[in-house]
Amino acid sequence: MSQNLHSGPRRILIASSHPLFAEGLRSLLHQREQMDAIVVGVVSTIDQALKALSELQPDLIVIDYDDERVNRDEFLARFVEGESRLRVVLLSLQEGGQDAIVYDRRTLAASQVDEWLKEWVETDLGAPGYSIEKKKDEQKQHPRRESMKHVIGAVFLIGVLALALFVGLQNIELLPQQASLQAVPIDNLFQLDFVAIIVLFSLIVGLMVYSIVFFRRRKGDEQDGPYITGNTKLEVVWTIIPLGFVLYLAYVGSLSLGRTQAMDPKPLRVDVIASQWSWRFDYPDLGITSTELVLPADKQALLTLSSTDMIHSFWVPEFRVKQDALPGKEFERELRVTPTMIGEFKVRCAELCGRQHYVMMATVRVLSQSDYDAWVAAQIIPEDPVARGDLWSQQFGCRACHSIDGSPLVGPTWKGVFGEEVQLTDGSTVVVDRDYIIESIRQPGAKIVAGFQDLMPANIGAELTDAQIDDIIAFIESLN
Ligand code: CUA
Repeated sequence: MSQNLHSGPRRILIASSHPLFAEGLRSLLHQREQMDAIVVGVVSTIDQALKALSELQPDLIVIDYDDERVNRDEFLARFVEGESRLRVVLLSLQEGGQDAIVYDRRTLAASQVDEWLKEWVETDLGAPGYSIEKKKDEQKQHPRRESMKHVIGAVFLIGVLALALFVGLQNIELLPQQASLQAVPIDNLFQLDFVAIIVLFSLIVGLMVYSIVFFRRRKGDEQDGPYITGNTKLEVVWTIIPLGFVLYLAYVGSLSLGRTQAMDPKPLRVDVIASQWSWRFDYPDLGITSTELVLPADKQALLTLSSTDMIHSFWVPEFRVKQDALPGKEFERELRVTPTMIGEFKVRCAELCGRQHYVMMATVRVLSQSDYDAWVAAQIIPEDPVARGDLWSQQFGCRACHSIDGSPLVGPTWKGVFGEEVQLTDGSTVVVDRDYIIESIRQPGAKIVAGFQDLMPANIGAELTDAQIDDIIAFIESLN
């Protein structure tokens, strides 16, 4: 470095377009004769300064702080963090009692300037006197080892943080049960997002915490941070990696969207009608209307969503997919769901739709195919009273104890009994007619047929309407 090549007085280069500034500094040095320093030149532009650097080999550039024509930012950018012990100071020699601003990592009052100059002149340039710089220089002896240590430390901290977050997040249930085929790609996307968020969070917070601990300002450290204007390599890297990742997300996202909308050629059609504040489910192919959504497992349901009043939104969290229900025929929306888990869930409205929005829910039941078929059969009410009686007798559990094929179960068979005379436990007889059947349903223990016990639930009759009992009678009559 230049200062090691020459000995003798310290060499000052002045950056100022104002002759009085150089004059002032010269006379300051002149007054302090014991100061071994000389002004070797005066420049006012950066080009002149660069030229003077090799020709005049200055140890110090003093920039006129009050000179508008000198671009001091450019000077500082060029020389402060440049090589060598070339010192750059900003100096204000303006009178009026203001503090002189000396850009040498310190601010001095005007009265302290010559003291500072003296100190600078007497400092051994080969071993600067400032403790902070000394420390920095010591570190510089093993810069590679030093920065490697920090890289390993920071990577370790980031890794530990990421691992802890990953384990922590896996152990709390972030998502509800996965109950549909469409939920699978969506959950995979969630997992990808969680990982990306964990990595980003750990990277940012890890580096921040590491820096706060290891690169914090120590006591007595008055230094400015390094003057960094850019790092093309780093900027290219931090542009390309996120760009690649975002493109990958777009690709995975569209694949997943495709999977959630995959069509089954023969789905179960259900019209979902939302109104303030209830849901109705019509099964157009079955003629069923229901207040709960009942679906068979492992079969795709094609929901056609509409609204009678305002915007609602159909959402079963376990199914993941969600779609708005809009008023107006032309705004019908479709949603495909293939339930995979037998169980009971809730539809909730996911669009603020008024005062009772928060209770706008309905039950969703996912059944096995056979349970679903039974539900459908129970929903479809036949026209024929005999068929209806058949249905009621199954639904209300009569047939568990009364056969229709003549075989005796817990109760007498229904086959061929209507209009017959039967013997009772008390020895009397009765004709099985309409009145007797009604009595036996409403008050099961009144007249017990001989050979049977009083086992029929006493309250079973309360469940049945008169019309339903009529249907059952018609059914029993048909068994003759
Ligand atoms: Cu309907 Cu909120």
